[in-house]
Amino acid sequence: MKSMRSHVCGDINESQIDQIITVSGWAQRRRDHGGVIFIDLRDASGLLQVVVDPDVTDAFAVADTVRNEHVLQVTAKVRARPDGTTNPDLPTGMVEVYATEINVLNRADPIPFQLDDDDTSEAVRLKYRYLDLRREPMQKIFRLRSAVTKYFRDFLEAENFCDIETPVLTKSTPEGARDYLVPSRVHAGDFFALPQSPQLFKQLLMVAGFERYYQIARCFRDEDLRADRQPEFTQLDVETSFMNEEEIMNMMESMIRGLFKAKLDVDLPDEFPRMTYAEAIEEYGIDRPDLRIPLKLVSVTDLMKDVDFKVFSSPANSDDGRVAALRIPGGASKLSRKQIDIYTEFVGNYGARGLAYIKVNDLSAGLDGLQSPIVKNLSGDVLPNVMKRIGAEDGDLIFFGADSAKVVNDSLAALRVKVGTDLDMIDTKWSPMWVVDFPMFEKDSDNNWTSLHHPFTAPKLDQIEELATNPGNVLSRAYDMVLNGTELGGGSIRIHQTDVQRQAFTALGIGDEEAEEKFGFLLDALRYGAPPHGGIAFGIDRIVAMMSEVESIRDVIAFPKTQKASCLLTAAPSAVDKTQLRDLHIRLSPAAQAAQQSSPDEAQ
Ligand code: AMO
Ligand code: AMP
Repeated sequence: MKSMRSHVCGDINESQIDQIITVSGWAQRRRDHGGVIFIDLRDASGLLQVVVDPDVTDAFAVADTVRNEHVLQVTAKVRARPDGTTNPDLPTGMVEVYATEINVLNRADPIPFQLDDDDTSEAVRLKYRYLDLRREPMQKIFRLRSAVTKYFRDFLEAENFCDIETPVLTKSTPEGARDYLVPSRVHAGDFFALPQSPQLFKQLLMVAGFERYYQIARCFRDEDLRADRQPEFTQLDVETSFMNEEEIMNMMESMIRGLFKAKLDVDLPDEFPRMTYAEAIEEYGIDRPDLRIPLKLVSVTDLMKDVDFKVFSSPANSDDGRVAALRIPGGASKLSRKQIDIYTEFVGNYGARGLAYIKVNDLSAGLDGLQSPIVKNLSGDVLPNVMKRIGAEDGDLIFFGADSAKVVNDSLAALRVKVGTDLDMIDTKWSPMWVVDFPMFEKDSDNNWTSLHHPFTAPKLDQIEELATNPGNVLSRAYDMVLNGTELGGGSIRIHQTDVQRQAFTALGIGDEEAEEKFGFLLDALRYGAPPHGGIAFGIDRIVAMMSEVESIRDVIAFPKTQKASCLLTAAPSAVDKTQLRDLHIRLSPAAQAAQQSSPDEAQ
């Protein structure tokens, strides 16, 4: 059978001049130039200019009927473009091909949006994703994504890691989100859960003696979606035996450094800075600080205990309160009253009830040199001490947050990034780091302990005893890699001893019976010679999104879900046949039936 093409469009250049070639692809654009027709022919390799002369009667007649996105096969002679018509921006821009024969392999209806229109709504792009993906920026992203996963595979294979698949129909794996459940037909009333991560299986693979495992694994989490979260996403999942946290972090750091060098020619630092969780919260209000922004929070809680100003003194005297300052160098002249009002509204989104500020006009003039609605409320040495602690200088603007530590941290952490971005303070493009020494547990909204990472994370060796006596004080052997304020990956050394795992469950309020029912298989496995082990998982979508400099991970997932966790292309999730439901032993509640009937098309 004859091949559909002799060349791909992007490979045509001056070395083929005078050759007869056959290429196939899409008509990206057809222009009629007073007799001569030009067609920009696109295939996966690039664009090629096809010239159709009226003298070539048959080809011209076909070209005349060609519309955007028709699929063509073109036989043509390669020639140099005439002087003045070359296009140095296009790899094939020095040549064009002179058509002798054109076959329309398939026609295309007028497409619902122009591929070169950057303002097409995301809803339309997602509904016709296969067209959206034809666009060059999207093609580039998915080629990068493929190169990234290949890089990871090559790196890990060279280090003797073994790629092993783990089940998708499985049992709940707690990573802090809700599970997606799959009803069992065979076992009436029972459900599989889709994995939130391969966590438990990769630990079992360490018990199985593989020592180094990896997988490019799909994970499923039913949680509130944001720009960097999808209900199904992909991890580079890694687990090792007989390596400590230093060794794992160093190896993973060199993998990420190598990736950025190889694919973006970016030199990340030789050593990623490390920061404890406590430092991160104290200085940045968040456990994934964006270190590109040279601003820090400074606590002034202790200085505010005795002031007359209730807004400050009451959180300063409360157990979980915090008063913190954010100094903006030069901010006094750069930030207008109106801008400060905008920021006050902004921190309101994070629960802050106000945003006090002081303009430092002239430090040498004492209180007279400070301009602020709150100066009158703070007498004595308070303000001079505050200024000293935060290293204030003339021309600064200082913001204050006073509330529960959570509200102050959330609001000032976000404000720090916002002001830093607004004032163009970002001077390094890439700022990777590690956060370490996380607490094992934190209190949830019901005042119960939950895991900060997951319940299989090992405590610091010298704190195992405290699991039972003082769980809130125990630090874990966990580490998160953060890049520009985004958590790229997280992992830890795991618990490999049954009794320690039981103590961790107990601290979490998981009794022996529940532990047995949910994690009996893990507790069993730990009894049969489990090696010390640990690992990490990276969010591949997040890594590719950052490398591609796009805002949302939706742009690096071929067929993503919307913010409302549905697929606009296939209209999933959708209703199913009554018989299917019956087979699965499921009956819908009246409320669910009513919702089904009234559910409008989602318009994003
Ligand atoms: P964790 O829950 O931190 O750890 O997940 C690891 C990484 O996966 C990415 N990620 C997501 N990406 C897109 N959408 C989501 N909804 C989403 N949730 C997480 C993040 C994150 O850093 N089993 C452990 C890893 C381990 O301990 O080895 C785990 O899953 O980039
Ligand atoms: P008020 O006394 O409520 O008028 O507030 C005086 C100043 O303190 C205003 O600039 C408010 O924005 C600010 N403010 C009020 N509540 C808080 C808070 N919880 N944290 C920081 N600043 C606040």
